[in-house]
Amino acid sequence: LDQYGAGAGGTRNIAGNGQLHLQLEESLADLHGKENALLFSSCFVANDATLSTIASKLPGCVIFSDSLNHASMIQGIRHSHAKKQIFRHNDVAHLESLLASYPSTTPKLIAFESVYSMCGSIGPMREIAALAKKYGAITFLDEVHAVGMYGSRGAGVLELLADRERRSLLDDIDIITGTLGKAYGVVGGYIAASRNLVDMIRSYAPGFIFTTALPPAVVAGALTSVEYLKRSNVERGLQQLHTRMTKERLRELNIPVIPNPSHIVPVLVGDAEKAKWASDTLLRKHGIYVQSINYPTVPKGEERLRITPTPAHTPDLIEELGDALTSVWREGELWSEKQWLEQGFDVSMKLNMGKDVVPVASF
Ligand SMILES: Cc1ncc(COP(=O)(O)O)c(C=O)c1O
Repeated sequence: LDQYGAGAGGTRNIAGNGQLHLQLEESLADLHGKENALLFSSCFVANDATLSTIASKLPGCVIFSDSLNHASMIQGIRHSHAKKQIFRHNDVAHLESLLASYPSTTPKLIAFESVYSMCGSIGPMREIAALAKKYGAITFLDEVHAVGMYGSRGAGVLELLADRERRSLLDDIDIITGTLGKAYGVVGGYIAASRNLVDMIRSYAPGFIFTTALPPAVVAGALTSVEYLKRSNVERGLQQLHTRMTKERLRELNIPVIPNPSHIVPVLVGDAEKAKWASDTLLRKHGIYVQSINYPTVPKGEERLRITPTPAHTPDLIEELGDALTSVWREGELWSEKQWLEQGFDVSMKLNMGKDVVPVASF
């Protein structure tokens, strides 16, 4: 802030470009094992700009999109005016049947996420990468809810799988997008991909070209954060540990946690008003902030509370959360996991989590 002032002073192409922006892009390309990276104001903009630009530059392109993809991807696909095919969440057989229905000459792009934030499921990236090879599709993976949090250097779930298999899975995916605003604690978004692809987006995407560059101090903060989390596994380990402890404790208390392999802890309420009431009561009565998630973000009848443990949510806080949820469940007469089952609804069977499951507490 002292050295460069508060703002970048212009767009990246006109006066707003700085050494720090280039350093951060280099650091992000290195993180994802890609030739190049490109910064955007946010990952919403990165997803929108990249998908709309690629698909609109590939005549006849068809985009295959997971049904739970984030709004930023849906918007990018819409803006591309390309044909869209939606496959059922994490259903690779459905994806393959859609891919196979087009000739090999049709340009194809598969868009999906690593960690789906509303249910915590994980995309079957190994299988999707294999399908992309078989049918000649470009792969676009949003690692927004995984960067900083998974993998030996924080590159995301793809890196975690690559670490496990001791081979580079990173090459299997063409475009990775991430945010600097969640685990990295700052703001901004990016893509990492081949040099040519990044050059193409840099040259054509209005969402990159016609907007003021990120402020240098913000970029310096993000760079420090990304570099720090490349070296430190302490935070990742603690987050996984606290997630496992939270899930185990809530299960012991018969609170209906929708199981998943990630750090997201969704607790099923099943009613919009009750979910809002539970969230309000947790805050007012117990001083605990937990977001309720209602339609249209989740289907009607699957309204939930979404808990995301962090490295700072220590065992005493987890205990406190368990007590508070027990009290709220009792007061609101909300259903326990057992009651859901008695109604013929198996909480644990609700969602397709994908086969590339990454168990929590794997560090
Ligand atoms: C899956 C996913 N992708 C992209 C974004 C957008 O990221 P940003 O907040 O950097 O715009 C979000 C934001 O919450 C998200 O959940």
